[in-house]
Amino acid sequence: MFTKLCDQNKVYKNLLGGEWVESESGKLIEIISPVDGSLIGRVQAMTQNEVDRAVENTKESLPLWAEMPVYERANILYRAADLLEEQCGEIAEILIMEISKDRKSAESEVLRTADFLRYTADIGKSMEGQAISGENFPGGSRSKMSYVTRVPLGTVLAISPFNYPVNLSVSKIAPALVGGNAVVLKPPTQGAVSALHLTQVLNQAGLPKGILNTVTGRGEEIGDYIVQHPGIQFINFTGSTRIGRHIAQIAGMVPMLLELGGKDAAIVLEDADLDFAADNIAAGAYSYSGQRCTAVKRILVLDAVADALVYKLKSRVEQLTVGDPREGAIITPLIDQKSADFVQSLVDEALEQGAEVVTGNRREGNLIYPTLLDRVTPEMDIAWEEPFGPVLPVIRVHSAEEALELANRSEYGLQSSVFTSDINRAFDLANKLEVGTVQINNKTERGPDHFPFLGVKSSGMGTQGVKYSIEAMTRPKAVVINLGRPGR
Ligand code: NAP
Ligand code: G3P
Repeated sequence: MFTKLCDQNKVYKNLLGGEWVESESGKLIEIISPVDGSLIGRVQAMTQNEVDRAVENTKESLPLWAEMPVYERANILYRAADLLEEQCGEIAEILIMEISKDRKSAESEVLRTADFLRYTADIGKSMEGQAISGENFPGGSRSKMSYVTRVPLGTVLAISPFNYPVNLSVSKIAPALVGGNAVVLKPPTQGAVSALHLTQVLNQAGLPKGILNTVTGRGEEIGDYIVQHPGIQFINFTGSTRIGRHIAQIAGMVPMLLELGGKDAAIVLEDADLDFAADNIAAGAYSYSGQRCTAVKRILVLDAVADALVYKLKSRVEQLTVGDPREGAIITPLIDQKSADFVQSLVDEALEQGAEVVTGNRREGNLIYPTLLDRVTPEMDIAWEEPFGPVLPVIRVHSAEEALELANRSEYGLQSSVFTSDINRAFDLANKLEVGTVQINNKTERGPDHFPFLGVKSSGMGTQGVKYSIEAMTRPKAVVINLGRPGR
């Protein structure tokens, strides 16, 4: 079980240099369940000195790790995947209570992470170098050859968000490790217990001491110090645009990957299959109570089919189960009071400006019932802000051109969906949408995880996805061989 990871009082430790340790600060952060207010556990508020130790641990362990054949590194990831599957039930239960994730999504997060580990191990082993002859370039010759391999960057700082504390930690850790890097993980505070259980699995799988270290503590207290630490050679961050921008401003000349916020639009044209569109949009907007960066966060629908689509959406939204994630409810209490307040404020402001409630607008503490708002206009904040909750605004448009303009006016550029029966119209819009990914006739979503996943504008910088992440956290190393010149 997890005896090393925590004690009988649910005081969780951190992995530093291969050992589970308590912080010298003596300060603990209570993790309370948003589901029922119960104590999930207590995590350490770590000190700057311990951040230094975590980074130092990586430096000491890197040479051995980088020298290890990639197939041996890959085997550790395969073992971790097996262990994760064995512990899926236990870790899913923690996710359910710690981040109020419904059971199906919690189990899916763990199993998807096991798949991610295996696929990363596979791709890591297939990453090969190049031998480039000099003769290809004018003036060059066969006597000169560049032998190019990919080498690790060194110490990677992985910072993950509350909504996928297991999967979006591994989406950084696994590619970093298979590429020969060492990792310092700063998990979300609300999600830290889940992330520490993941860390234990990776440690159990045989990671050498010091290759993976965790630093728990509130980002607002310890985050800046970690991000600006001179020993960090890559920052892999997933979280809000606000924090991502802050990190980019203070980190200095450190390469980074930022996966940030979104305001994904579902564009519904007059020739769309409305039942299919309504099924997809309802699932895409309300799963995990809308707390997904790729959630559908606005509908841009042609006037001609707006009434019919709203009618179909209403029936689907009203069928969503609401309540306790332990019983499998899809709509569950949001992560905290502050988030629920923000979501409700957006609804209230829209209603004050003339939006209409199709269904919902009901709140019980952090639990916000699935809400569908019609006749939302660009003058309302909810047309532009990311609620990160179960609220979906319908904006009616006169043409596809108007939909495109409104979609691109957003500061965000993560994904968009286009629902139409005309593939030519779909590609025409897809080519003009300023986003990382366009889903044609599907809800917006990140998977499958080998696809490139990226945001533009305020939605991020750089590209995730297994191969892309490995490439981001490694670099080419060229050794030029000059033949026919002995000794020079
Ligand atoms: P968040 O508040 O930005 O926190 C993300 C992570 O950053 C947490 O681990 C947080 O730690 C840490 N952090 C906070 N302040 C920091 C600082 N000054 N320096 C370093 N780290 C700091 O985001 P969240 O609430 O966890 O997640 C929701 C947001 O993330 C939404 O905007 C969502 O769209 C976005 N998101 C994007 C993607 C994507 O793939 N594009 C995926 C998931 C979520 P603490 O928990 O201790 O504050
Ligand atoms: O917000 C998490 C982001 O990575 C979305 O993932 O798989 O729910 O689309 P997914």
